[in-house]
Amino acid sequence: MVHKLGSISPPSDDDDDDELAGAATPRAASFAPVDVNAAAPPPPPQRKEVKTKKKEERRKHEAAAAAANLWDDPDSYVVTIGGRVLGRGAAATADAATDNVRDVVVEDSDVWVQGVALFEGASLRVAHGRRYGLVGPNGKGKTTLLKLLHWRKLPVPRGIRVTLVVQEDDNRDPRPVIEVVLAADEELATLRAERDQLEASSAAAAANGARLAEVYEELTQRGWDTAPARAAKILAGLGFDQASQARPASSFSGGWIKRIALAGALFMQPTLLLLDEPTNHLDLRAVLWLEEYLTAQCKSTLVVVSHEEGFLNAICDEVVHLQDKKLHAYRGGFDSFVGSYEQKKAKAMKESERLAKAARKSGRRAPKKWHDYTVEFHFAAPTELAGGGPLLRLAEAGFTRGGFQLSAIDADVSMGQRVAVVGPNGAGKSTLLKLLAGELTPTSGEARRNPKLRIGLYSQHFCDALPEEKSPVQHGQCHRECLDTHPHLKSKPWEARAKLARFGLAKESHLTTIGKLSGGQKARVALASVALGEPHVLLLDEPTNNLDMQNIDALADALDEFAGGVVIVSHDSRLVSRVCDDEERSALWVVQDGTVRPYDGTFAEYRDDLLDDIRKEMAAD
Ligand SMILES: Nc1ncnc2c1ncn2[C@@H]1O[C@H](COP(=O)(O)OP(=O)(O)OP(=O)(O)O)[C@@H](O)[C@H]1O
Ligand SMILES: [Mg+2]
Repeated sequence: MVHKLGSISPPSDDDDDDELAGAATPRAASFAPVDVNAAAPPPPPQRKEVKTKKKEERRKHEAAAAAANLWDDPDSYVVTIGGRVLGRGAAATADAATDNVRDVVVEDSDVWVQGVALFEGASLRVAHGRRYGLVGPNGKGKTTLLKLLHWRKLPVPRGIRVTLVVQEDDNRDPRPVIEVVLAADEELATLRAERDQLEASSAAAAANGARLAEVYEELTQRGWDTAPARAAKILAGLGFDQASQARPASSFSGGWIKRIALAGALFMQPTLLLLDEPTNHLDLRAVLWLEEYLTAQCKSTLVVVSHEEGFLNAICDEVVHLQDKKLHAYRGGFDSFVGSYEQKKAKAMKESERLAKAARKSGRRAPKKWHDYTVEFHFAAPTELAGGGPLLRLAEAGFTRGGFQLSAIDADVSMGQRVAVVGPNGAGKSTLLKLLAGELTPTSGEARRNPKLRIGLYSQHFCDALPEEKSPVQHGQCHRECLDTHPHLKSKPWEARAKLARFGLAKESHLTTIGKLSGGQKARVALASVALGEPHVLLLDEPTNNLDMQNIDALADALDEFAGGVVIVSHDSRLVSRVCDDEERSALWVVQDGTVRPYDGTFAEYRDDLLDDIRKEMAAD
């Protein structure tokens, strides 16, 4: 059942599964329940409407660009080290001792952005060659910390090459994917360019010939002869077959652009590699491959922001926890961090009780208690639907677009059912979800749905396509699209605010523009919007991307108590194991080889098979 590397279907132009499609125009964030009784398509827009729409789009584009600039401007952050303010445009690296120092040491640092303190007296030690996981709640400064290290606004020794793979990447390079990865190593790329230039000037003067010999020598030392094969292997591990490695990078959509950036960083092997949520856009096979690669082959010192327990357990020597504006280091992987954290908490609570008692006796103010941040998600109980039977059914359904095909799909979803969907890249997982949701219509067979059914479809692409210039409240209220069919869903600002708060979005962020929110904050806005639609079935495509641990737990709890149907595509083993813990009502569907089949086994068994395959393939290389 488990696919081999060779059998991974290449990302094709037309396969829009996992959003590989070349023209990656984001759809408007669609959180409204899918109206399965959709009326005839609206008449073509009038000229005036087209003009207004264009104007609106331009405004949106400008707002998004402004937000992005602000985000990437090192001078929007005020950094102090040991109480000393770093001047505008300055780097802290000059302070970082001599060239052969390899450890990064940050002591007593404060960081402010837009008048808000993200770090206060924070210290961090990154020892050369070790692998660190950086964890902490959404919106508290993990991405900011990586950026500051990358910009050297925090002291990073001069001799260290630093590479950052960002949480959201939109770099559209027209060169073939393999070329983009090879060019990621700039020094190597410069040498190659010089070699090409010298070779081209065939009327080679003696001096040219001597230099050419030197360049060949350097290229050999840097392993240029094996570089293309190495780059190709990394790309294959991340899901690009030979054909897609030759395609222009700009023809891929967001998630794949991020994979290319990740491949470039792994190929380059910098001294210090900073990865921000690297598993977000990966499928299960690529996540497992990355775990293996980082632990067995990558020589860089690593700092990785992630919320994926299994991944962190596999790769980390230490976990750095961002809590109360400080950084706390714990030895071991994620599980040992949880154990140590619980011990520390129990000790601190005991101590604060003792101090509170003493304070009561002496009449002084009691010290602050330990406070853990928690969130609670909630999906309203679905309304009764007449008719019984499955809520959704694909019968002998097929879908063809360009060279992409899914066929003979027989699948149904009932109230209370839990389905996990797995399968290789580009096999059709997202297409399957869209067929279930009614966003795509089968080209053969049929899709049947209860006529009163409301579907909540959630995916990373909704987050990416949220209207950057609107506030979360304005967005949450926007149920207008479906008001004709579901008038009771019209929500007032306070209702939207209550839902956003329930989904853990702090009230300060309710009225700010979405463009200024962090990845996890955007994910909460999109999830809250799905919940506002009061769906009977939840179709969740990689819902844990960007969510912190507390949110993932809250999502698992909310899905536990949700009485409707749930179909989930996820590489997060912990979440899937929780959602599908009741064997009676759970199923695992494998999308592979152009169809969908039930898997006879658990998610954990499927994962273990996959890992065995990857290890064998890596050992054979
Ligand atoms: N340039 C900026 N301008 C305005 N606000 C900013 C800027 N950079 C960061 N912030 C704010 O700082 C906070 C921390 O942002 P950051 O992206 O570092 O969080 P994070 O811990 O990485 O969150 P997530 O887990 O959701 O990715 C957020 O509230 C964000 O809105
Ligand atoms: Mg972040």
